[in-house]
Amino acid sequence: MFRCARAFSTSPLFKYAAMTCRQYSFQVFRDVPPLRQMRRQLLLDRKTVGFVPTMGALHEGHLSLIRQAATENTDVFVSIFVNPTQFGVNEDLSSYPRTWDSDVAKLEELNDEFARLGGDTGRISAILAPTPKVMYPTLPPSSEVDGDGSFVTITPLSRKLEGASRPVFFRGVATVCMKLFNIVQADRAYFGQKDVQQTVVIKRLVQDFYINTDIVIGDTVREHDGLAMSSRNVYLGARRRAVGLVIYDALKAAENAYNSGKLARSEILDAANGVASRVLSEQQALSPSERALYEVDYISLADPDTLDEVETIDPSKGAIISGAVKMVPLEESKPGEDCGLGDGKVPVRLIDNLIFKPRP
Ligand code: PAF
Repeated sequence: MFRCARAFSTSPLFKYAAMTCRQYSFQVFRDVPPLRQMRRQLLLDRKTVGFVPTMGALHEGHLSLIRQAATENTDVFVSIFVNPTQFGVNEDLSSYPRTWDSDVAKLEELNDEFARLGGDTGRISAILAPTPKVMYPTLPPSSEVDGDGSFVTITPLSRKLEGASRPVFFRGVATVCMKLFNIVQADRAYFGQKDVQQTVVIKRLVQDFYINTDIVIGDTVREHDGLAMSSRNVYLGARRRAVGLVIYDALKAAENAYNSGKLARSEILDAANGVASRVLSEQQALSPSERALYEVDYISLADPDTLDEVETIDPSKGAIISGAVKMVPLEESKPGEDCGLGDGKVPVRLIDNLIFKPRP
């Protein structure tokens, strides 16, 4: 519910109403010109803007990026936009969680937290929550591989890893981020390490198109046992949530191999694949009402800049170990079982990565 902005979005007064809304501690913008007006004023006032792009369904990972942005800027802009062009035609665009009310409540709580810290920190001053028509003003947003539209493609990075299974994903991400960067003109933009390939693609976008925004990468925020936080975790339910930890355990096994001095691809990947196959065999031995099955899409050992697969890690550069696992729908549920949003019927793609730091 866009309490303030919605009422005025079709009115000529909207431009001004969006600028004077007082119902939230930040201003909510559905359109570009009034946000630009605010941005221009902040520039004239020598304020700095940190930008956190999101698709909503905010969790602790987003909040930690916003906290970081508030320590490094006077003003934080957050976008909430479920971007259609990064979902393939058969992907979960329609079922992607949309949680406006709880998102706004979390952002209000953050501003209360920043206010308690006094003048030592910035605050969230703008939320950009545009419609698809605002973000794609001329042609409807296409999710087809050969669809028409004004797109930004970053190759070959976008074809690797996640891009191999999701051919339009990084085209959609790069396109929407280019639009958002042009709109917000932030001093800094914040992305989570969890989506490591996204961070590499965005850094390349900023470099190749001379975008005047620094990219800051925040650490992956994890649950107590190590599962990386993700908006999609709400679909897991207890059983798939417990088994889904396999992705983190597999990557940790690879990290242990690297930390113990191993550099060869086969030794590092054997450690990770060993965990992934053992856990799968354990699950397969259980009955359908007890088990949670998954398919490993990839486990990759790659160069941190190019994402090319490496045969032997160059210890002066380090590497990225990353993986993707699809938790398949539950075959049978038990009465009263917590199966997550969608009753355990929604497949859930989990991705994660660890950075192997360079070592002397
Ligand atoms: O990471 C995300 O949530 C999205 O890919 C992003 C960067 C907001 C672009 O839609």
